[in-house]
Amino acid sequence: MILVTGGAGFIGTNFILGWLARNDEPVINLDLVTYAGNPANLTPLGADPRYRFQRGDIADRELVSGLLRESTPDGDTVRAIVHFAAESHVDRSIHGPEAFVHTNVVGTFRLLDAARDYWSALSPARRERFRFLHVSTDEVYGSLADTDPPFRETDRYEPNSPYSASKAASDHLVRSYHHTYGLPVVTTNCSNNYGPYQFPEKLIPLCIHNALAGKPLPIYGDGRQIRDWLYVEDHCLAIERVLEAGREGETYNVGGWNEQANIDVVTTICAILDEERPRAGNARHADLITFVRDRPGHDRRYAIDAGRIERDLGWRPRETFATGIRKTIRWYLEHEAWVASVVSGAYREWIDRQYGAPGRT
Ligand code: NAD
Ligand code: TYD
Repeated sequence: MILVTGGAGFIGTNFILGWLARNDEPVINLDLVTYAGNPANLTPLGADPRYRFQRGDIADRELVSGLLRESTPDGDTVRAIVHFAAESHVDRSIHGPEAFVHTNVVGTFRLLDAARDYWSALSPARRERFRFLHVSTDEVYGSLADTDPPFRETDRYEPNSPYSASKAASDHLVRSYHHTYGLPVVTTNCSNNYGPYQFPEKLIPLCIHNALAGKPLPIYGDGRQIRDWLYVEDHCLAIERVLEAGREGETYNVGGWNEQANIDVVTTICAILDEERPRAGNARHADLITFVRDRPGHDRRYAIDAGRIERDLGWRPRETFATGIRKTIRWYLEHEAWVASVVSGAYREWIDRQYGAPGRT
């Protein structure tokens, strides 16, 4: 079986749902359920015996070691850790960087250390098979000028925000556990994901949510910053492929081959919403676009060269932005209750009652 961390978040949810649709291998999901986590995303799994949810902190060494010692009634043990858990929002890292250091740096360190103890005690065959897959970001490489080539795995790390600095630190720790202790790790650095189950604080779901409510669509600065958008399902397939065939100690950049300026992304969303959910009185959703103060230290451009993962592992994204964004908007239109519940305080109170409210370690 596999241990997934942060599986109640955006990418982790999509990963677990896709994994269990394609594989029979059981999953343990360890998630602290911060504001970004929503275990109810996985209720479609019902009482599926292949799925187990554990609320807790990746920095809780004892809890993690206990989970790693678990086995299924068939004698299955953990053969891989897929590590998504993180504080992931750049704007929040600007207002409160400490949680980013706790989870992304200290949490990843404790998880790695528990993994190392567990892996060291495995039989040679199981040691050989074990993988620690660390999910990271393209933001560790810093910002590109318009004419620069896209990020490659060999580029220098130049993180600019507390978020990207904390992810860069975690990448270095992962690398060091391979080089120093031989832990079989593999790291993926992906570009901006979009798709179902993304918390409406990130650009795309925020704009869909606000547009439906007739609220302003805030564009930072001049809106000409560029991101390389990757449909989340494509990303999950890339992770499965890396888990299956990625080379130990290697890093793989995962991107959508799809660079877009923020203003163009938001204009596209508005045009699709005009078709799918017209506003009253023939008003256009684009009328809601509002330019606001820029983010401090805002990186101008990210773009991924996903050549290595294509050449070595045969992965390429399936969705174009045109197909992926339409699917995403339709999902949000069909799941307005989901959005309402994740933004409501009532939901958070319920989670604390249901799962207890663990303190951070
Ligand atoms: P998210 O914020 O939606 O979800 C993070 C999950 O981690 C939540 O369920 C949260 O409850 C959980 N979590 C937070 N702190 C924890 C802790 N201490 N212990 C256990 N669980 C904890 O994030 P996401 O967008 O799904 O991102 C997943 C991973 O992918 C992150 O590592 C992120 O850095 C990386 N990434 C994301 C993107 C993107 O566009 N979303 C792009 C590049 C890389
Ligand atoms: P975001 O989704 O926060 O991802 P990241 O900062 O990790 O790239 O933001 C994507 C881009 O959109 C980024 O350039 C910041 C910009 N942005 C806005 O212009 N307005 C917003 O309200 C948000 C949340 C982001």
